[in-house]
Amino acid sequence: MLGLKNRRILSGIQPSGELHLGNYFGAIRQHIALQEENECYYFVANLHALTTIRDKEKLEAATFQVALDYLALGLDPEKAVLFIQSDVPEVTELTWILSTITPMGLLERAHSYKDKLARGILPSHGLFSYPVLMAADILIYDSEFVPVGKDQKQHLEMTRDIAIKFNGTFGDTLTVPEELIMPEVAVVPGIDGQKMSKSYDNTLAIFAGRKTLKQRVMSIVTDSTPLEEPKDPDANNVFLLYKLLATPEETAEMRSKFLAGGYGYGHAKKELLEKIWTYFEPARQRREELLENKDFVEEVLRKGAEKARAKARQVMQRVRERTGVLQFCK
Ligand code: ADP
Ligand code: TRP
Repeated sequence: MLGLKNRRILSGIQPSGELHLGNYFGAIRQHIALQEENECYYFVANLHALTTIRDKEKLEAATFQVALDYLALGLDPEKAVLFIQSDVPEVTELTWILSTITPMGLLERAHSYKDKLARGILPSHGLFSYPVLMAADILIYDSEFVPVGKDQKQHLEMTRDIAIKFNGTFGDTLTVPEELIMPEVAVVPGIDGQKMSKSYDNTLAIFAGRKTLKQRVMSIVTDSTPLEEPKDPDANNVFLLYKLLATPEETAEMRSKFLAGGYGYGHAKKELLEKIWTYFEPARQRREELLENKDFVEEVLRKGAEKARAKARQVMQRVRERTGVLQFCK
């Protein structure tokens, strides 16, 4: 997957809502595939989420849910390290140290800060320095590759700039990560045809109940070509979504039905609904089992945090030695 082997990979996932098909095909599937041949670290970015969620119950539940969903979708704790960001407090220590060498201008140019303000999010210092925490997340594990979507490209560039600046100031200490912008194999369309995103309320959630899923699938926007007429498969969202989940043969079959005419969007929506439901059926079952066995999930997170923390401590030790930040009580 993505041509990587024996690399140290890291990515963070914000716990900010139900995971949807866009997240799955655009990120989660690749994250999980990478675990086979690489050393992967995946964490739930709950400290980042605190910039937007100010509700204890909600933050706790969303954090746990992301971990649960990743495990249900195939993350194997024997192969990849899964943990919660706040379980590695060294990361916030590194954030401070990095912030002392991060130029204000670098942060002032961040698009995501401006976008978030435009969406009405409170302009806190945490929101402004969000990219420094993200840089610490990445640099504290000597990460070599960070698979993220295009929207995180600038944050990664900032991480590289911060690491280079640090190394220039204090000597070679931090590993400068490579960019790994995941190819847009799939910009998954939402039910309104725009990019699927929780900010647009147009998502199909991976673990939605059958009734909700049906209602969402049935409301996918289509044009008004009459039933009997042929339709362009590549210009309709139902087909584009179906294609992501179906085998090449099934895709070819739906394509020819659309081209032949006499096949309506309603028919295709029913097929899509079945496809989504069966595609995620094994994951849904695993999720049910995990929900019955929360102790297991907590144990995975505890062990994951231990592994992550062991690595973070090594890097922090290096950073303290280089900067002269003394520590007598270890
Ligand atoms: P949202 O847009 O719903 O807030 P996030 O920004 O939390 O989603 O998405 C996390 C990752 O999931 C993104 O960095 C991107 O890689 C992937 N992703 C999200 N939506 C899509 C989509 N519609 N198509 C492809 N990938 C997506
Ligand atoms: N900012 C990322 C997002 O919104 C989440 C994130 C936090 C992250 N820390 C990270 C991603 C470190 C990769 C590496 O999607």
